[in-house]
Amino acid sequence: MTIQISTLLKQHRQEHVLKFYNELNENSKAKLAEQLKALPWNNLDELISQYVINYPKISIPEDLQPAPFFPTEPDSDATAELYQQARAEGVRLLQNGRVSFLMVAGGQGTRLGFDGPKGTYPITPVKGKSLFQYFSEKIRHFGEKYGVEFTWYIMTSELNHEATTQFFADHEFFGLDQDQIVFFTQGTMPAFDNSGKLLLSAKDSLALSPDGHGGTLLALHRCGCLERMRSEGVEYLSYFQVDNPLVSIADPLFLGLHALEQSEMSAIMLAKTGPFEKLGNFCISGGRLQIIEYSDLPDALAESRNPDGSLRFIAGSPAIHILNRSFVEKLTASGQLNLPWHRADKKVPFINDCGELVNPETPNAVKLESFIFDALPLASKTMILEAVREEEFAPTKNKTGVDSVESCRMMLIERDALRLERAGVKIARDTDGKAKYPIELSPAVIIDDNDAIEYCKEKQISDLSKTETAIYLG
Ligand code: UTP
Repeated sequence: MTIQISTLLKQHRQEHVLKFYNELNENSKAKLAEQLKALPWNNLDELISQYVINYPKISIPEDLQPAPFFPTEPDSDATAELYQQARAEGVRLLQNGRVSFLMVAGGQGTRLGFDGPKGTYPITPVKGKSLFQYFSEKIRHFGEKYGVEFTWYIMTSELNHEATTQFFADHEFFGLDQDQIVFFTQGTMPAFDNSGKLLLSAKDSLALSPDGHGGTLLALHRCGCLERMRSEGVEYLSYFQVDNPLVSIADPLFLGLHALEQSEMSAIMLAKTGPFEKLGNFCISGGRLQIIEYSDLPDALAESRNPDGSLRFIAGSPAIHILNRSFVEKLTASGQLNLPWHRADKKVPFINDCGELVNPETPNAVKLESFIFDALPLASKTMILEAVREEEFAPTKNKTGVDSVESCRMMLIERDALRLERAGVKIARDTDGKAKYPIELSPAVIIDDNDAIEYCKEKQISDLSKTETAIYLG
């Protein structure tokens, strides 16, 4: 151990992490030293005091107002014209290769409780395609549609990088060119016990976890991805999360509005289903857009209503963004980015003083994560577009219940059922209106209503209402 690190550990009262150091072989010693070197020494004590020993103070600004947004359907002639121009602009940006995809897949997926990266989860209702395959097929199809080999940046974490890249390699990159996919790894943060001591996950390792999706920005800088984007003439990043297979990753209207409005970072919003729905709230304070988490918005504000009875704070965030490459470059140029940390109390297995592994049954540790939406107030200009929930947001967080594998599959079925019906195809529905059998349209061939119309016309499909099995078109 270098003298410098030993001194730092002493100064910060964290020497306990070296308790088993003398028992370690050279490789293990080097591994632990590397982890210790990478700790945020400059502000470690401040972090511990602000976020671990004390709960971070959430101050709700006095001037908090609901954020304005563009509605799904234009509400005036001027907006209708703007949307038309925006769609054309979005298509132009896609055709000219100005857009790359940015998917965050570094999370631990603890709620899903699935062994492996979440992206490998078999999500689709008929074929059981994985989330990774589903997105790969979308990207392949968009490539064909716009005549562009889009680059897809996938953020992994140290915990799942190997398994993720192996999965893609095992499946021959799902038909994409290997060079189109760029995997990059996010940073880590150490877990602390409640008194602010660093936890060990093994005698030769700190208990480290991914530093949150806010870590994407600095990770893009560190891995050289921003340079690649620049050299490829890419100006816009379409940001989405691995657990939402419904998301429209190449929406010309969203892209075009973002560009025409000269926004640096834009967001999709959904009308919340109720005052306390667990979505972040788009708010304005001091002229800046910010997201206030559902748990932080005071009840009185969450429940406040407009004269027509609608919720004032109606705009919820499904974590879908467009970011300018130049905005990410600006934020990360110094190699530092100080987004606020968010505290999570979690169960983290650790090595106790006797060197035994303890698997706690209740939360024993504090983890810190930064969130991508905290970059919104740093943007000189922002833009929010409303989207239709049924066409945009089916998060896979849990196995059952709300935001689960079950609800996600139901939403995929329903979206595809409606798509077929809009293409003039009859399907069987139950008395409660739900599709009678699972339906799945492969995004490799059908990605929007026009595709569905053409596909069904070509294959002469007009009535599937007598089919008494699952339906797969692809
Ligand atoms: P969530 O916050 O829902 O976390 O991530 P999660 O890991 O998927 O699930 P839980 O909370 O442990 O159950 C939202 C998105 O952000 C990504 C996830 O992979 C997911 O796409 N993410 C989250 C990262 O890429 N890195 C992180 O550090 C955290």
